[in-house]
Amino acid sequence: MSNTIVAPSLLSCDFGRIKEESELLNASEADWFHLDVMDGVFVPNISFGLPIIAAFRKHTTKPLDVHLMIEDANQYVSDFKKAGADILTVHYEACTHLHRTIQAIKAEGMKAAVALNPHTPISVLSSILPDLDMVLIMSVNPGYGGQKFIESSYDKIKALRAMANASNPNLIIEVDGGVNLENAPKLVEAGANALVAGSTVYKSDNPSETISALKRA
Ligand code: DX5
Ligand code: ZN
Repeated sequence: MSNTIVAPSLLSCDFGRIKEESELLNASEADWFHLDVMDGVFVPNISFGLPIIAAFRKHTTKPLDVHLMIEDANQYVSDFKKAGADILTVHYEACTHLHRTIQAIKAEGMKAAVALNPHTPISVLSSILPDLDMVLIMSVNPGYGGQKFIESSYDKIKALRAMANASNPNLIIEVDGGVNLENAPKLVEAGANALVAGSTVYKSDNPSETISALKRA
């Protein structure tokens, strides 16, 4: 059994059926619920916010992996904790005082993660890496589900794993965007240990089986 964490992205689920969608994931091998918050400013799309996270929280005991694609995340850290987030990811590109934000997330008892857009080099994390529980490598430009995987992500993951081996060996490396059954094993081989998948799971005939297949990557 692999140790790869699988986090289906609920951006692609049916929001009219939050209870049923939660039950599907509860009964599956999914490790986390990945929840994408978009503000229409940092990214050119608006998804959902605190009340929807609180709604999923009512229907699962699995960790909620909340990916904030918003400006000014610092001011909402405790609100996301109250809504039920277990892991809070902020974007490097949207946080001026990243160290302060990471400390605030940890002070609330959540795991702290930083996401990097495809154009952002991993070198910007060198000072903060020992403080992080996870880094999220965006393998598409954030904002939408269903986009094509960016191939240069493999090298980025490999380099980040090497960097983490030196300063934070327990770092979780999560990949988000265009993850499918074909690239999943290559991502794990490159050093990723958490896979986010939206379209691959929800556009498949059997989401639960697809989650199991990703788990075996
Ligand atoms: C994109 C989001 C992703 C998205 C992934 O900005 O962060 O989590 O839902 O969707 P797929 O797996 O379809 O690329
Ligand atoms: Zn995401």
